[in-house]
Amino acid sequence: MGNHNTKKKNQILRTKLPERLCHWMIVFCFFLAATSGLSWFFPTFSWLSSFLGTPQMARVLHPFFGIIVFLGLCYMFVKFVHYNMPAETDKIWFRNVKGVLLNDHSQPLKIGKYNAGQKVLFWLIMISISVLLISGLIMWRAYFAQYFPIPVLRLAILAHSIAGIGLILLILGHIYLAIWVRGSITGMVTGYVSKAWARQHHDRWAEELDAKESAERAALDRQGEKA
Ligand code: HEM
Repeated sequence: MGNHNTKKKNQILRTKLPERLCHWMIVFCFFLAATSGLSWFFPTFSWLSSFLGTPQMARVLHPFFGIIVFLGLCYMFVKFVHYNMPAETDKIWFRNVKGVLLNDHSQPLKIGKYNAGQKVLFWLIMISISVLLISGLIMWRAYFAQYFPIPVLRLAILAHSIAGIGLILLILGHIYLAIWVRGSITGMVTGYVSKAWARQHHDRWAEELDAKESAERAALDRQGEKA
């Protein structure tokens, strides 16, 4: 008995299906937008446009993949912003960041659903994608570029390049950390993490979930008594 039950018992839903699908759809489109974008920086990078077929196709499709990434991130913003608001307890994480990097989990850091580092990353991603969208629309030859004077276009291209490289570097860091914190990618794929994982990496979140579960159980017990 119980193997399946025990597994379920020790698992917590961390990310719901629509959010997971959205995240992986973003990953796919971001890969195509980022590689085609990089292909225009140096001739030695030009082969990177081949993921979209020909260089011409890459030029046509890049903005559309970028817009899909933006829309996906809008959805994630709405769903996740609540967990990424600054909290008083984030200071504890910042103060102990060295311990976090050394994988030292001896002290309770009062980490909510996302840690302070993830929150910073969340906001940097949202700022970069906003800059990319606005500057990208301005410089979009097919539709809008003709409405803007040359100096504005030049500034837009500069802002787009900086935000693009910035976002790519942020995402490389994001991927590195996702691999580093074992169990988190499984969480983004299956939706579930273990209770031990939650306690180790997001102690306050795990405590809040435990408290909610006990309250729900108590309410059910009371209902049972009445019936
Ligand atoms: C192969 C590439 C990627 C991997 C392996 C990956 C992995 C992950 C994982 C494991 C989480 C959940 C973290 C947790 O539960 O604590 C996450 C969250 C997230 N990812 Fe990714 N990711 C990738 C690419 C991207 C890209 C390209 C973007 C956006 C451009 C992105 C944006 C986000 C956001 C916004 C969150 C939510 C974080 C928060 O709310 O603080 N990810 N990712």
